[in-house]
Amino acid sequence: MSTRPQLAALPTPVLPADRLRAALGCAPVWIKRDDLTGFALAGNKARPLEYLLGDALDRSRDLLVTGGGADSNFVPAAALAARVCGLDCEIVTVPGTGRDGTNLRLARAAGARVHLLDSPRRDRIDDAVAELAARRTVEGRRPVAIPRGGSTALGARGFARAAAELADQVGAGLLPAPGLIVIALGSGGSAAGLLAGLAATGLGARLLGVSVSRPPAEADAVVRRLAAECAAGTGRPAPGPERWEVVDARGAGFGIASDTERAAAGLGLRTEGLLLDDTYGAKAFAEAVRRLRAGIEGPVLYWHTGGVASVLAHLPAAENRGERS
Ligand SMILES: Cc1ncc(COP(=O)(O)O)c(C=O)c1O
Repeated sequence: MSTRPQLAALPTPVLPADRLRAALGCAPVWIKRDDLTGFALAGNKARPLEYLLGDALDRSRDLLVTGGGADSNFVPAAALAARVCGLDCEIVTVPGTGRDGTNLRLARAAGARVHLLDSPRRDRIDDAVAELAARRTVEGRRPVAIPRGGSTALGARGFARAAAELADQVGAGLLPAPGLIVIALGSGGSAAGLLAGLAATGLGARLLGVSVSRPPAEADAVVRRLAAECAAGTGRPAPGPERWEVVDARGAGFGIASDTERAAAGLGLRTEGLLLDDTYGAKAFAEAVRRLRAGIEGPVLYWHTGGVASVLAHLPAAENRGERS
């Protein structure tokens, strides 16, 4: 039997975004609040980490080796998940933009040992993680190496379960069956798990992945492969292509939100109190807003994936001076 740890407080709420709807004059919108998974600001990443740590515990691993960019939300989530499961943690990262260190500081606070590569290229990280894990094995440790974002077929199962969770919430009348689900897409595990999981439910929703770091063709291939592997792992056929779409939101670059994307995030903040980060949330939410403004039919479900630590790190500095009254 698996010793899968419980990290996330599930199910996460589904809430109607009626003030946003009024502001846009659009179809019904709902928010799936995975920013509220409840484990150490991990957002969507609490779901795959339950499966990945469960596997590590089943295989008696004593060290989690993983990595991510300097502003990765996965990195501190993984470091903290490792610690609460009794594993040590080592992180491979690359030089960042210099404006954000919150996530890395959180990982260090959890006791993770951080290794900085010379090159800023994030696509070097997974090889370096595998090399570090191999070195630690030679030294007598029992490491588990997890690629960036925890996006493996096993990690994706966390989001396959999230699709079942959503179907239960629809079944219980907490929200109407969505026509479209919009989610930010980075390393692809979340969208892949959802895609695999949706196919196993009665929900007919289409899924839109908003790709923030990979060209759409590459993102599409990663998600399809992981979804097929994830489905196979649970004895189900690969999901068909008809319910899946990917859109390019790389814009000026990874982590750089445009004025339009920032404005959309500001609208989410002021109408629904949503904290949307520049790297993922602002871009995905802006795409949802763009389609809603264009008159798309609802109900639309925006899947809020978290990223809250980054939001706080990127708020403009404020002077502690009030206006004269
Ligand atoms: C806040 C947030 N949203 C979305 C994503 C994208 O998820 P995935 O990497 O599973 O595609 C990430 C990935 O780190 C994230 O941190």
